[in-house]
Amino acid sequence: MPIKLIFSSKTTAVVSDGGEEGQEPVGGGKILPSSRDGDSSNKKQEKGSAGSLFARNLPGVQWQNLEKAMGELDQLIGLTEAKRLIREAVAFTEIQRVRARENLLSESLSLHMIFKGHPGTGKTTVARIAGKVFKELGVLSKGHLIEVERADLVGEYIGHTARKTREHLKRALGGILFIDEAYSLARGGERDFGREAIDCLVKGMEDHREEFILILAGYRDEMELFIRSNPGLRSRFPIILDFPDYSLEELINIARLMLSQKQYRLTVDAEVKLEKMLRKSIFSGYNRSGNARLARNIIENAIRRQAYRLLERGMELHRDNLLQITEEDLVEVDRAVLFSDPMDQERKVY
Ligand SMILES: Nc1ncnc2c1ncn2[C@@H]1O[C@H](COP(=O)(O)OP(=O)(O)O)[C@@H](O)[C@H]1O
Ligand SMILES: [Mg+2]
Repeated sequence: MPIKLIFSSKTTAVVSDGGEEGQEPVGGGKILPSSRDGDSSNKKQEKGSAGSLFARNLPGVQWQNLEKAMGELDQLIGLTEAKRLIREAVAFTEIQRVRARENLLSESLSLHMIFKGHPGTGKTTVARIAGKVFKELGVLSKGHLIEVERADLVGEYIGHTARKTREHLKRALGGILFIDEAYSLARGGERDFGREAIDCLVKGMEDHREEFILILAGYRDEMELFIRSNPGLRSRFPIILDFPDYSLEELINIARLMLSQKQYRLTVDAEVKLEKMLRKSIFSGYNRSGNARLARNIIENAIRRQAYRLLERGMELHRDNLLQITEEDLVEVDRAVLFSDPMDQERKVY
């Protein structure tokens, strides 16, 4: 089980995956939108948005905004575990609030997380959406994401690291501090300044309890080793989430989603070619370093090539031509392009 949440079993039982019709939370009739909420909410419910299940009766929660953020999560391809985990955390938070309102014992959930997986598996994307969700829930005041890596935190002389780390921590207050390749903080052993950064982060978690969420991300094996070698850290991260490599089908769907969001579509021949390209990249192990990022690069490249093709050949610029990505627009993405791909465009602040 990749997910470990410190929930009571009772609370977990309340969480709906959405799919089953007529499913009612245990003893929660009061907070479920009933049939009077109309058709649209029921449809959403079937899609599995916890936002539509719980949020409406909570003071201070703008359920439309919460649903919008949950909708962004739902729209992502695959990522079943990540989606379930966020829905559970939302449900837990809301149930605790309702319990408090009913003068029942309630507890707060520690939301610090570890995300394990290859590049391009959706870690940053999920973190960014989680920020929005927890903002709408009122757990975070701003919900922004600050993404940093070792070089942003670790300095060159004594005291420098603590200062740098504290700065980023401060910027992240009210939102999420996302540390990519976090295992590299343990690089270099006892005397490395990375340790100072870890100590400073741990102190920050104590000093600013509930003011921000810390997410440590990185390759699975490295992160496991990192957590094991820092027993003090393990207990502070109740949520550990695996981001598996995408399957061929998921990658195709991700590519389709990216295209439709940009109002493009593939011709039948292009579909076949895309599948071939992605299959080849998975087979060669190339995908492990690309995943959805590989799909995105192929799509963005194809869109540029389509534009060039349309103009170079003096083609008629009617809707069909503007919409269609053809087989010849799809070309293998140069490995160098993929690796130089600045995740940096997406980094830092949102
Ligand atoms: N499940 C998904 N559905 C749709 N798009 C995705 C999905 N996962 C990743 N992407 C897209 O792929 C790109 C890379 O994802 P990202 O979250 O940066 O991966 P990571 O942080 O794990 O390297 C982003 O443009 C993101 O929007
Ligand atoms: Mg990332």
